[in-house]
Amino acid sequence: MTIAQANLYVEENKHKVNNMYRLKFHAMPEYGWMNDPNGLVFYRGEYHIFYQHHPYDSVWGPMHWGHMVSKDLVEFKYLPIALAPDQDDETGCFSGGAIVDQKDHDKMHLFYTKHYDKDGIIIETQGLATTEDGIHFKKNEQPIIDEDLIAPHGLIHDARDPFPFYENGYYYVILGSKDEHNQGKFLIFKSKDLKTFSFHDEIVDPIMENSMAECPDLVRFIDEDLFIFSRINFKHKNTNTSEYFLGLFDIEKKNYNYRYQGLIDSGHHFYAPQTLKDDLNRVIMIAWMEIWGDPKFTHDLGHKWQGALTFPREITIKDKKLYQYPIQEIINYRQNTLKFEHGLKIDKCFDLEMDSTIESFSIRLTNPKDLKDYFEIGYDKNRFYIDGEKIKANPLSKKTSVYLYNHLKLRILVDMSSIEIFINDGIEAFTSRVYIDSKQYLILIHGEVQGKIHPLVIGGESLNV
Ligand code: FRU
Repeated sequence: MTIAQANLYVEENKHKVNNMYRLKFHAMPEYGWMNDPNGLVFYRGEYHIFYQHHPYDSVWGPMHWGHMVSKDLVEFKYLPIALAPDQDDETGCFSGGAIVDQKDHDKMHLFYTKHYDKDGIIIETQGLATTEDGIHFKKNEQPIIDEDLIAPHGLIHDARDPFPFYENGYYYVILGSKDEHNQGKFLIFKSKDLKTFSFHDEIVDPIMENSMAECPDLVRFIDEDLFIFSRINFKHKNTNTSEYFLGLFDIEKKNYNYRYQGLIDSGHHFYAPQTLKDDLNRVIMIAWMEIWGDPKFTHDLGHKWQGALTFPREITIKDKKLYQYPIQEIINYRQNTLKFEHGLKIDKCFDLEMDSTIESFSIRLTNPKDLKDYFEIGYDKNRFYIDGEKIKANPLSKKTSVYLYNHLKLRILVDMSSIEIFINDGIEAFTSRVYIDSKQYLILIHGEVQGKIHPLVIGGESLNV
């Protein structure tokens, strides 16, 4: 399987994609399947987003790394596929990260998992690929972290998703893994020159019992570190969740002092988030806007694509709490301002700001052709909730907020098949894919709320339109 074959296949087939549920301001594959965001990096003045990609079908398969760039993270341009499983010791290029070379800022390195699965043997080692033009990547022939380095510390068939970072003269790589007793753990390796790596340390936390650790990411704020991870929880029917620790992670001194915080997102579809830091020193997080185990809705409809990424959120820490809020660039795409009111009919591409001080309310985003087909959000007994049980095509369970609120200020981004909700400046977020068979929503409100709604117009060079 080569990159050239994959690019040709996408080129020849992309016109077959059905646009009905395609998103206007979210990253998604041109054709075929997408899962995790990979290698998020700000490089030579642009945001680069790579992603787990199966270009030949809209279901998961031999993993490639798709590639897109963006100047503002609202409109994206597809670039040729960056990695294909084209070496003898890999049948998939699994998730990983990117880093700009410390000495030569024109160089960028991708760290990925060389997943090998043949005749019942699964092996995961870590590979490196380097670019000097941001388009073509040259893979190292040998893994940079091989079986021998991993085996004493984690299972060789479950050691993946390298997260690279540079600190005090060393490149570090954190992997997600587990041991033979299903204790999830994070393995840390280090290197001076990206050629020779050695084992450095491991982080094992009781919360990771009966789990497989996936997709670690570490962010340094001024006086607090944020450690993000995803996991498969074997105790809970193999459910997938993305969670975080806040505290201090002194990797060099192997000194970790942190508090477990819980889920990053309280909605239905949020997994494998990664972060990047840009030239404005903003920390931006993007996740896969799906979850393992859910129906593959657009695939099943024969729409020839499946999977999308969340709208990028800026991450900040205030009063030792994590806040996530849509990056401000989306404001440039607001067309005008309408009053948010009962009976409004609006295209499914908008940015809503609303407030309420009363004790309870509910809002339905309804299919104008069928008022029994709707997604509901609301507030009751100091909890915010989302409820998708009445969506006809793909019902979603009711979910309530982790925190109690006595006042609600909401920011809601709606795209063709997604809803992202941010409470009180981003202290809690809910992300869900919502498939309602209509171009517009009819808004039905019970209770008193005040709000402004901004239709969004995404156009120009966008390939998403
Ligand atoms: C997370 C994940 C990663 C793996 C990739 C494979 O969604 O399972 O651990 O690298 O997907 O596509």
